[in-house]
Amino acid sequence: MIFRQLFDSVSGTYTYLLASRRGGEALIIDPVLEKVERYIQLINELDLKLVKAVDTHLHADHITGLGALRDRTRCITVMGERSNVDVVSMRLAEGDKLTIEGVGLDVLYTPGHTDDSYSFLMDDRVFTGDTLLIRGTGRTDFQNGDSRAQYDSIFNKLLKLPDETLIFPAHDYKGETVSTIGEEKAFNPRLQVKSVDEYAELMGKLNLPNPKMMDVAVPANMHVGYAQEVIAQRGWAVTATDALKLTGRPDVALIDLRERTEREKHGVIPGSLHAPYPDLQANVRPGGMLHELAAATGKRVVFYCAFGERSAMAVQAAQDAGLRSACHIHGGIDAWKKADGPLTH
Ligand SMILES: [Fe+2]
Repeated sequence: MIFRQLFDSVSGTYTYLLASRRGGEALIIDPVLEKVERYIQLINELDLKLVKAVDTHLHADHITGLGALRDRTRCITVMGERSNVDVVSMRLAEGDKLTIEGVGLDVLYTPGHTDDSYSFLMDDRVFTGDTLLIRGTGRTDFQNGDSRAQYDSIFNKLLKLPDETLIFPAHDYKGETVSTIGEEKAFNPRLQVKSVDEYAELMGKLNLPNPKMMDVAVPANMHVGYAQEVIAQRGWAVTATDALKLTGRPDVALIDLRERTEREKHGVIPGSLHAPYPDLQANVRPGGMLHELAAATGKRVVFYCAFGERSAMAVQAAQDAGLRSACHIHGGIDAWKKADGPLTH
């Protein structure tokens, strides 16, 4: 198991790099834009393949590295379904599992610091974002924060985990790096309250100044989406409405790039094939499954995914690999549903 805690001293942000082995797939949690070069260097040094970049919530104190990492590595960007960002490649909800090769994290919806705060539980440790900090809790006075919701997230979800569970937060300003659920229960001054009312009163009296970066970071972090327009301008996109006419046609191969869990949860376009995004490079290169399918049958390859990000990147990769017929459904299944496209479960 590879587990690295990386620190941005400007914003006091912790970023976590996870992988099951050298040479394997990697996942990064809460990357900071200014540190992207450092992450890429470490990923290369450890011979890892970054496949997912995740933010625990919409950050107000730094600009996320999600977009830059996607542009550099073609990884999948992931956030919770409540995050008010223009688009991410994949969205998660409570009860979902965030997986890469050899690593699985349970998704917990833990609102309060913001209304889009999520925690990720992996075996003996939990990544708590800004919901639960070491000897502190995330402020609840902006970004739809809610101290009562936070009390519920902390007391009824996080503190129900075994006492020995390690806590890895998104921030620390005093140099603390890790704690445990049991330790925070006993010694976190914010948690020594008798009721939700007492907690709300405590949080209401904090009177903190706004983060220096807030006016820059929040709007910037809302727009990390991949520019699907570029793909459309090259003539490599079809609208969901136009794509409705493509189903069932013998000269078209609709390719679903999503994960099995997304397919089960949101449904599948009838007649489409499944070729998950992480296998894309192998599939589109000469000799690969999709490359040969297109060559042998003359079928036009039409990618789709959840929101059109993975499929837009897939079109570029396929075109680069010489698959000239490749295009994608702009906006993905999200747009398909809005166009009343049929789905099978
Ligand atoms: Fe935060």
